[in-house]
Amino acid sequence: MKEFSPVEWKNNQLIVLDQLLLPFQQKEIICRTYKDVAACIKDMNLRGAPLIGIAAAFGLAMEVKRSKAAKYDKFSREIIKAGEELINTRPTAVNLKWAVDRMIKLMEQNRERRIPSLKDLLIAEASRIYKEDLDNNKLIGKYGSELIREKDTVLTHCNAGALATAGYGTALGVIRAAHEKKKKITVFVDETRPYLQGARLTAWEMEQEKIPHFLITDNMAGYFMSIGKINVVVVGADRITANGDVANKIGTYSAAVLAYTNNIPFYVAAPSSTIDFSLKNGSQIPIEMRSEDEVKKIFGRDIAPKKTKALHPAFDVTPSKYITAIITEKGVIRAPYEQNLEKVFLNKEVVADL
Ligand code: MRU
Repeated sequence: MKEFSPVEWKNNQLIVLDQLLLPFQQKEIICRTYKDVAACIKDMNLRGAPLIGIAAAFGLAMEVKRSKAAKYDKFSREIIKAGEELINTRPTAVNLKWAVDRMIKLMEQNRERRIPSLKDLLIAEASRIYKEDLDNNKLIGKYGSELIREKDTVLTHCNAGALATAGYGTALGVIRAAHEKKKKITVFVDETRPYLQGARLTAWEMEQEKIPHFLITDNMAGYFMSIGKINVVVVGADRITANGDVANKIGTYSAAVLAYTNNIPFYVAAPSSTIDFSLKNGSQIPIEMRSEDEVKKIFGRDIAPKKTKALHPAFDVTPSKYITAIITEKGVIRAPYEQNLEKVFLNKEVVADL
């Protein structure tokens, strides 16, 4: 498998593969300032929970490099302001706040250092966040692929692939790893209205890897489950709360309920940077509302009467009771989630399938 990453950090700039143009064009955008990065996140040129966190960390690294502040107080004010702006671009995926908080915490812990040395430390940290994500995805793939059986037909929703991460992917990391182990799997790719991350991005990744796949519209999943054509579901996550509820791309909840009704295992694959222990349950997760135009138009063309009003929540929440297991870099975690997530990530104990 060839290694693939949607961003590259080069000469203190972030080279971003423009995901709005995929699969038709492969063009890059060069981000030179954190504001460029913030615009790319907001406009979805780059997307996916882990990737927006990684990009935000590099955005901060750019601001660190640019700052002319000679004293810590001024320097830290500039970095915190940039961090707030980056966090405010998209509210649901907690990886964004996680990455910014990690950079700010490191800065504060090293406030006694001289500014040039502090700058080096922070710039290196952004690359560490990137590298850790890649390593975590490989582990998620390794553990998750054990759950995929020979000849399974796997449904996935949205794009939780290399394009949504530092590379390799979470849900698609599981699928990639199963394919690498020569399990003869077939992937059903939900098109994922309205942004078509499935049709444009997941199908593109499957094509690159030569993994057999079928594109289906979101409303076909129930039918294929009911006739036994889908026997496992794997999706990514934007935020997992302390009790194991999961926010992910709009439509994930429907897929989970359908899987539950049809007795099909439903797996969520995500790194620990997606877990938000500060929230008790999914009802507390902020859900991003995006422009109604994204529903009323496809590729700029109207598909509804001009005066029709539309709604566009970009995410929904799947209650943990529908989730068979959460696949993380620390292993496969099962219910009771509240206890097991805490054990693994806060108390660092080993649980379940490991
Ligand atoms: O709006 P998007 O495209 O950023 O939404 C992405 C998703 O919902 C993914 O499933 C999630 O971020 C996990 S990516 C590894």
